[in-house]
Amino acid sequence: MMDAISFARALRSWYDDQGIVLPWRGHPDPYAVVVSEVMLQQTTVAAVIPYFARFMARFPTPHALAAAPLDDVLAAWQGLGYYRRAHNLHNMARVLVSEYQGRWPTTAQGLKALPGIGDYTAGAVASMVFGQPALALDGNGVRVLSRIMGFTDVVSPATPALRAFAAACVPNDRPGDFWQAVMDLGRTICRPKNPTCLTCPVRDCCVGWAQGNVNEIPRLAAKKERPHRTGQAFVLHHNGHVWLRRRPDQGLLPRLYEPPTFGWEGPSAFTQDSELWEACGVVRHVFTHFSLSMDVFSANHKNPPFTEGNWYPRGDLPPLSSLAKKILQQTLFWVA
Ligand code: ADE
Repeated sequence: MMDAISFARALRSWYDDQGIVLPWRGHPDPYAVVVSEVMLQQTTVAAVIPYFARFMARFPTPHALAAAPLDDVLAAWQGLGYYRRAHNLHNMARVLVSEYQGRWPTTAQGLKALPGIGDYTAGAVASMVFGQPALALDGNGVRVLSRIMGFTDVVSPATPALRAFAAACVPNDRPGDFWQAVMDLGRTICRPKNPTCLTCPVRDCCVGWAQGNVNEIPRLAAKKERPHRTGQAFVLHHNGHVWLRRRPDQGLLPRLYEPPTFGWEGPSAFTQDSELWEACGVVRHVFTHFSLSMDVFSANHKNPPFTEGNWYPRGDLPPLSSLAKKILQQTLFWVA
């Protein structure tokens, strides 16, 4: 068994020397840590930084977030993707304010009772803010620790052997910095593909390195095949305006705006007039449960052939999903 204590010590001295400064680090504020961790769950550090700054300026406290209309929160999230996270954060702030009088639980277990806070986020806040030696195992943590252990079985954050090793590693002193160090190592050196082991500060503690099988670790459970869907999108524009409709409150990309799309969420109810529409190529997008390719058409025309929607001026577009943005970018409306 790897010596957990030497590993944690070596990792921490690398972290302290390296001193990667990120805007949410050293925050004693659980709210800031929750916001950043939720954003970072499915988005890279580089992409999150500007969103985090804007979000915190716009909604500086859970009270401010709870008091804001959902649409403002979605607008601030626009472009980050996985909008369910914005709904969950908003809902969590409302529950924190209404049922907890705005006071944060201070243990991982207590934090997990808040809606939208899972095992990972609860452990991250408990360790980073409240100094508890809780486990915060995300994809980075699973990869880094299973390589250090030389663990070649199928592994996930719930794997008992991994959790036992993690518990042996996480120090009582600055446990949050241990996890941040794991994440920095996972992002910069112990990367999923082509890890740069020759520059690794904890190579001497790494069983995977000694075994020569770092690249086969972690062994993740086979992912379910993602089904593929196809559809059509219609960008109608005229006089610097574009025709958009709002998506329903429930389901995928709730309440965001898009050019009318058909075929990918059910049978198509739209027959296009081929005289009017010009083909602009294909846009691809990957959702959690399926991938999508969408044929994009555009027309410069003043009479909308759609039953729902409105005109919006180019300079003042409502919140668009990333998919809708990709679709618009495929057409002359965007560049004209
Ligand atoms: N990824 C998720 N949480 C992170 C954090 N706190 N620092 C760097 N990368 C992260």
